[in-house]
Amino acid sequence: MLKWVRRRYLDVLGSIYIYNEHRGYTAIDRVLEAVRVRSPGDTDLIAAIEQHRADERAHYVMFRRWFELQGRMPLAVDRTFGHIDRFIEIMFRTRIDQLDTQAIIDDDRQFEKLCRVIALTEQRGYRQVEILLNHRLVKSDPVLMKIFRVIKKDEPSHWAPYEGWLRKHGKREPKWWERRIDTFIHSELLFLKLPVLFLNPFIGRRTDWADSGEAQAKPATAPAAA
Ligand SMILES: [Fe+2]
Ligand SMILES: [Fe+2]
Repeated sequence: MLKWVRRRYLDVLGSIYIYNEHRGYTAIDRVLEAVRVRSPGDTDLIAAIEQHRADERAHYVMFRRWFELQGRMPLAVDRTFGHIDRFIEIMFRTRIDQLDTQAIIDDDRQFEKLCRVIALTEQRGYRQVEILLNHRLVKSDPVLMKIFRVIKKDEPSHWAPYEGWLRKHGKREPKWWERRIDTFIHSELLFLKLPVLFLNPFIGRRTDWADSGEAQAKPATAPAAA
């Protein structure tokens, strides 16, 4: 019984994480697109966001390998399990995919709102990983522990560029109600959606990887057969 609980819990946790990591780097593509047009001269900011994108992609790949090692696909979770999806939907009243990039380019208020949403999401991610690194079931999986340690190390550099932009341009920090929304989304995920997913025997598995069909910049590869 305990074995089943452990396996199922880690399966659910990994499936939610891999969804969020993939959603993370694909959403950052939209941000990058906007920043490159808004402020092409701000090379430091662009480089920091590019690094953020590369990290989230690397996190995604680590979870993908973790699933591959177990010989199974992630559970087919959708955007209702995405922290950033929910945050964008509440703050912008639209899905990430339908976010108006041009409005974010043209309107400072839209851009600063987006910066606050990303910074809060990353800070939430950091606190969550700290909790998971002390979680009994997570501790029983050395590969997963390794993944979460990498994420913990990367996370502070993820909110820094957005907070930096807000500070540099004299924009305000997140207000109590924005933090309240972040807490609400997190609680909803942790105490409602995760348990429901855990107990749902009908939820299927993905049949393909979320990044299949995406063109990735590949590092120089070694010859196939040496
Ligand atoms: Fe991540
Ligand atoms: Fe992150």
